[in-house]
Amino acid sequence: MSRKPIIAGNWKMNKNVQEAMAFVEEVKDQLPSTDKVDAVIGASPLLLNGVKFASADSNLKVAAQNCYFEDAGAFTGETSPKVLADMGMDYVIIGHSERREYFHETDEDINKKAHAIFRNNMTPIICCGESLETYEAGKAVEFVGAQVSAALKDLSAEQVASLVIAYEPIWAIGTGKSATSEDAENMCKAVRDVVVADFGQEVADKVRVQYGGSVNPSNIAEYMACPDVDGALVGGASLEPASFLALLNF
Ligand code: PGA
Repeated sequence: MSRKPIIAGNWKMNKNVQEAMAFVEEVKDQLPSTDKVDAVIGASPLLLNGVKFASADSNLKVAAQNCYFEDAGAFTGETSPKVLADMGMDYVIIGHSERREYFHETDEDINKKAHAIFRNNMTPIICCGESLETYEAGKAVEFVGAQVSAALKDLSAEQVASLVIAYEPIWAIGTGKSATSEDAENMCKAVRDVVVADFGQEVADKVRVQYGGSVNPSNIAEYMACPDVDGALVGGASLEPASFLALLNF
């Protein structure tokens, strides 16, 4: 089964407007063909409009890093998925461990957000991943499996086939302590097995599963060589144009 690789930069709450524009200007004409790889930048909300405009007519796709699950209403401070769609966003990253931990997002919220993103014709990148404690207790497969199952609840087979799941062990995020490619493969395979169980083999063969956690230009090839790893979600190493381009050319 050949799935198109998807490499997504997660800038988190980094860069100002000027820095974001300079980055896009530098990479936009050097991106690989969209037949080969989906190249995505996930920027913080205030940068999204500028990044989208600056990358128009290029191969760069743009992701929001979060959204709310209602389209409009009295939700002060929240980001509307409908407006993200209006702005031309392609993807929305949801359920990042930083959002789960610091902003108390639950599996149920993440599932509602996935539905809202599809309702607005965008594609969710759904993050999952276990803590060091869970990993060391040998409970990663069980824990991550439950996160994935909950996030995908009541989506259609067609929707699940089209979305992206990012497996990111919390202990590997921003620590420089990346998972071995064997661990990454086993966990991405375990994520796919959950999709097999919930939606069937055909859907599982289509869903793209990324590994994330201290991915950089030197280790990305190892992950991309794994049969169940279809891409990477990259924080720190996506911030510099040369590094982002090197990731895309894994
Ligand atoms: P990192 O972050 O690549 O800096 O470890 C990954 C992420 O949080 O998505």
